[in-house]
Parts: sequence; structure tokens; C-alpha cells
Amino acid sequence: MKELPKVGFGTWKLDKNNCSKLVYEAIKIGYRHIDCACDYGNEIEVGIGIKKAINEGICTREELFITSKLWNTYHKKEHVEIACRKSLKDLGLEYFDLYLIHFPISLKFVPIEERYPPEWIYNPSSTEAKMEVEHVPLYQTWEGMEFLVKDNLVREIGICNYNCSLLHDLMSYATIKPKVLQIESHPYLTQENLIKTAKNYGIEVVAFSPLGALSYFELDMAQKEDSLLEHKSILELSQKYEKTPAQILLRWAIQRGTKIIPKSSNSNRMKENIDVDSFLLEEPDLRLISSLNKNKRFNDPGKFCEAAFGTFHSIYD
Ligand code: A2P
Repeated sequence: MKELPKVGFGTWKLDKNNCSKLVYEAIKIGYRHIDCACDYGNEIEVGIGIKKAINEGICTREELFITSKLWNTYHKKEHVEIACRKSLKDLGLEYFDLYLIHFPISLKFVPIEERYPPEWIYNPSSTEAKMEVEHVPLYQTWEGMEFLVKDNLVREIGICNYNCSLLHDLMSYATIKPKVLQIESHPYLTQENLIKTAKNYGIEVVAFSPLGALSYFELDMAQKEDSLLEHKSILELSQKYEKTPAQILLRWAIQRGTKIIPKSSNSNRMKENIDVDSFLLEEPDLRLISSLNKNKRFNDPGKFCEAAFGTFHSIYD
């Protein structure tokens, strides 16, 4: 079975105009895991970048590890395959190495021909436009996911944004076990119990937003003072190890056994982010970074669904 690389390239919020170039550049720099999703709205562009890298012989398809995610509007068993095939087509691929349920949130179905990606709001042109939930039991969605493996459309399946209870529940009925749990995690949200629970089940954990608040500034979901890159302890460790603050955060994530998918639109930062094997944080420093935890979640449907899409829908409490 193919190993999931330690550092992957995140594609959330990569601008469509330079997305292909950035993905191509990331592969050239050495990234082999590309983390995509229907909801990022850029799978066609990501696919162009991948294709160019393969065509130029930088790597083969087999050497890449491509992840995509099932969007919330496709949770019904009969919609899972349609959604997966659409992402495959957009990316120009025959299979995914990993396909994840993006959120444990099911929304009313929107046909692909009507709107794609459908995003969060059911009917954006309505005067009462809002997010509309349509309950689908997650075991039914998982059955659809398992079918994708049997059908050779995907090699492995997994979940994102599940809590411990949902994981226990999933493990009670999964006949194909989840390979990966993808969650927000950084020193302000260490999620020790969730990571331990996943590991006890043999599920690998991929941390998204491993640098913390940065990608949430532009969305007004974090304040400047939330930045871990300017935290006194991180700056001191940056001096001690002669590495950038970002590398300290990423190395901490790797040493605690999580894999990471930092996004960057800048090639110097891309290089910086993948260069995390050239040093080792000492135990007391790892503990110091972990002690910064304040259970601060930036990507929280319990907050943004109501603020941005008019419907309160909390999932972590
Ligand atoms: P940029 O793309 O300009 O580099 P995510 O949380 O989705 O992984 O996004 C990471 C955020 O952190 C982005 O806003 C990205 O901005 C920024 N970033 C990525 N790598 C670094 C780095 N090495 N140093 C500082 N900021 C970074």
C-alpha cells in the first residue's frame, strides 16, 4: 500500500488564475501528496498542474498521492459515486489514492448540472437563501464510500472533521476501515484525545491548517493576535534551532505523529514547508509547544454556518 507522505500540498483557496502553475511548482519542488476537494472549486486547475508535471516526467501518477473529498450535498449513497467521478474527471485522473467525507454535515442535494461546486447555500438566488440540511445517516454515506473502493475508483477512504464519538460509531459498522482522519490541528488546537483515539484504531491523522490562524485572516475568522508565527515561544525556538517559525510549527506536528498539508502560494514558503526533516525538536520544546493549546478552533461550522450561510449547525459540541 502506498505510504502517505509526511508533508502534502494543500490546495484550499489556491487562486484559479495561478493554481495550475503552483501545483506544478509544488510537484517540482518535491511534494507528492496533493490535497484537493470539490468544494475548493479549483480541481480542473489542479489537474492541469498535475498533468504538466507528469507529462514532463517529473514524476509518475503512481508516485503521486492524490486526495479529494466528498462534498456535503452528495451524502446520499447514490450520489457518492457521481460526486467522486466528477472530481476524477475534473482532475483528469482515473483513481484517487484517498477520498474523504469532507464534513459530517449533510446538505440538500444539488445536481451537478445545476451548480458546481454547490457550496453551502441551497439556492443562492432565492430571497431566503440559506444553508439547508437534509439528514442522511453517515453509515449510508460510508456505504457509498466503500463502494468506490470496490469499484476501483479510489484506493483508500477516510473522513474529515469527525470527533471521537463519530469515529467510534464509524468503526462499529465500517467493513473497509478509514485510512485517514483529517482535522484542524496546530499548537492552539492540539486535539490530543482525538488523535489518540484515531491512532488506537490505526487511523492516520492529517492536520490541516498546521500553521494555525494564517489562512483565516482573509476570511475574517481570525485576528492578527491569533498568529502563532509571532508567539514569543515560537520566535525563541525559531532562533534556537535557526529555522523559521513556520518550520518549528510543522516539525512539532510531524514529531507528534501527524501528517500535514500546508498550503502556500509562494515557492520559497513551499520549499520551507517541505524542509522539515533537517532538524529535531527536543522533548522539552515539544512539550512547551503543546502547552500553548487553548482549544482554539478557526474552522468551526458551529460559528461560520450561521454567520455566513444563515443556518446554525454546530458539530463539535
Ligand atoms: P501564502 O499562500 O501566502 O504562503 P492553510 O492553513 O490552508 O494551510 O494555509 C496556510 C497559510 O499560511 C496561508 O495563508 C499561507 O499563505 C501561509 N503560509 C504558508 N506557509 C507559510 C510559511 N512558511 N510562512 C508564513 N506563512 C505561510
